[in-house]
Amino acid sequence: SRLPLQLISAFNPTRLGRTIRQVLASNPDEEIIQVHGWIKSVRLQKRIAFAMIQDGTTPRSLQAVFRDPEHAKVLTNGASVCITGVLTASPGSGQAKELLAETVEVLGACDPETYPIQKQALTTEYLRDHAHLRVRTDVHGAVLRLRDTVMRSLHEFFQNNDFIYAHTPIITSNDAEGAERLSAPSYLTVSSQLHLEVISNAVARVWTLSPCFRAERSQTSRHLAEFWMLEAEWAFVRSVDDLCNVAEASIKHVLRLNSPDRDLLQKDINASCGLVAAASDIPWPRITYTDAIHELQKSGSRFEFPPTWGAALQSEHERWLADSFARGPIFVTDYPTAIKPFYMRQNDDSRTVACFDLLVPHIGELVGGSLREERPTLLEAAIKRQGLDEEVYRWYTELRRFGGAPHGGYGMGFERLISWLGGIENVRECIPMPRWSGRMLL
Ligand code: 4AD
Repeated sequence: SRLPLQLISAFNPTRLGRTIRQVLASNPDEEIIQVHGWIKSVRLQKRIAFAMIQDGTTPRSLQAVFRDPEHAKVLTNGASVCITGVLTASPGSGQAKELLAETVEVLGACDPETYPIQKQALTTEYLRDHAHLRVRTDVHGAVLRLRDTVMRSLHEFFQNNDFIYAHTPIITSNDAEGAERLSAPSYLTVSSQLHLEVISNAVARVWTLSPCFRAERSQTSRHLAEFWMLEAEWAFVRSVDDLCNVAEASIKHVLRLNSPDRDLLQKDINASCGLVAAASDIPWPRITYTDAIHELQKSGSRFEFPPTWGAALQSEHERWLADSFARGPIFVTDYPTAIKPFYMRQNDDSRTVACFDLLVPHIGELVGGSLREERPTLLEAAIKRQGLDEEVYRWYTELRRFGGAPHGGYGMGFERLISWLGGIENVRECIPMPRWSGRMLL
């Protein structure tokens, strides 16, 4: 039997009802609707009362109007509610519509005296201590939605370019960054790269967004013990320039998205974050590590660590290159072999490898990537030279012996990207439940 047409169009299989985002986007139609959310603020007047309701689906709130202020007296900040009423065009300025409340039900009461999320400005440290509630603040709600928007935008970019999204293991037996194998048989992954290399030799283009774990001892604004990394890996790429092209295009795709949450977060962003210029068609500059060392040396800046060829770039060097030298994102390529992991492809000069880091203002390193050594003998030599267990990496070198294609890729810290996009000082504010050395509240 068939349903009548009008029933099919009204059919809502999820029965979820409308979110506040959907309500605000709809036309006032004088029908009774039901809205769920949390009370943001209440304003009681003699003859009328107003309550702002949020449900986190949008940075905006819906105003509920109570023609009998008595009905609003049960409402307190933070309480969860169900309100029914009629959606009407708002006579007030600043909002297009409001809900004329008919009934209100408090689903979860909230004591206004002891509610930790009070109106006045709350410090970052205080909010970290209340991680179970800080996601309800405007800023942290915006961060949550921005993460979601950016993730969708990245999916769009990679899908448009025929990259397959793949899942890689969290528990691994290898350390992709070339550290010594300990006696324990398995680890939490530090990077999905080696597994993506396997997959990129079957489906040519692959990417993932996965949790990564690092026992970072340093307490910095850019390091977490658990973070999310976007990693892309593809076959038949032969130059660092081509790697940089994809990294740049994927990030520009994200920089160009429209996001009210990013606008909200960036309200007092320092213009030197260079986001607007970075999103333009102008290519980001590229410089070799060797030239970068020269520039640092002749900069006249006083660095804590004098820049020397052969040593890793310190964050003060990275910041100078992005903030002062390029005044925007800059790729640094071809680092010395001795300071890079075993898998990077040896350059013809035998002292550098075909790799890049992308440095951005305020953050420093956002992306790291390389061509992977696809020549088995050179790869085995690198494994030996770095004192790694050849048995452990046998499958990895074997990959090269059975039709292994030249390939490469990169990894980008998702929280660092959010930090740059949102002008957020510390990556600990870029993930809902941050983990760092010695700290795990919930
Ligand atoms: O430079 P990294 O260590 O590169 C890799 O792991 C490669 N295997 C990636 C690849 O080529 N597929 O890390 C890549 C990025 C860094 O540029 C940084 O943005 C982020 O991951 N990252 C961290 N983000 C937050 N907290 C940490 N502790 C991070 N360590 C790295």
